[in-house]
Amino acid sequence: MTLFEIPRPVSGDVVDLIIDDHRMFETLLRELRDATADRATARATLANLLIAHGEAEEAEVYPRLRREDAITGHEEHHGHVEHAAGNEALLALLEAKGTDTQKFDSAVEKLAEAINHHLGEEEQTILNGARADVSAKERAELGQAWLTRRSKLLDQDCGDIENVRRIVAEAAREGLLEEAESEE
Ligand SMILES: [Fe+2]
Ligand SMILES: [Fe+2]
Repeated sequence: MTLFEIPRPVSGDVVDLIIDDHRMFETLLRELRDATADRATARATLANLLIAHGEAEEAEVYPRLRREDAITGHEEHHGHVEHAAGNEALLALLEAKGTDTQKFDSAVEKLAEAINHHLGEEEQTILNGARADVSAKERAELGQAWLTRRSKLLDQDCGDIENVRRIVAEAAREGLLEEAESEE
């Protein structure tokens, strides 16, 4: 398995699976800061993984945790706001033409800021809710549902710039980007 191959597990505890992806985000961000790395491939890989990961969380994980009272409605909504901010920063990175420009470096820095902030918060709130208030059996079911959705999105090349543009436009219509800005 190379650095840029996205793992496709088929089962596991949803908390462990999500954290494995978080680790991969961090590895890919480090590649994007390395001028000797294949940054175009790192960018495309991160785009696919970030979109598949977040969309699958919103569709499969957050609503179920909310129904189980493992997270609050506010925490769920806040997750959406932070995903929107990350996706907007991702779009700016995808719009940078070259990978050896100041524009690219600035976009990487902004994306890293948005992602790192969200990972920390998600692990401290949402994933702790899942650890404390959801049984191991349910975490396994959630893991499977999340992986299935994530895999389908990866098959659809969900990190393609046109799809990211569509997702960001939808977040703007829902007012999520404005909320993200007012929180900064
Ligand atoms: Fe996550
Ligand atoms: Fe997330």
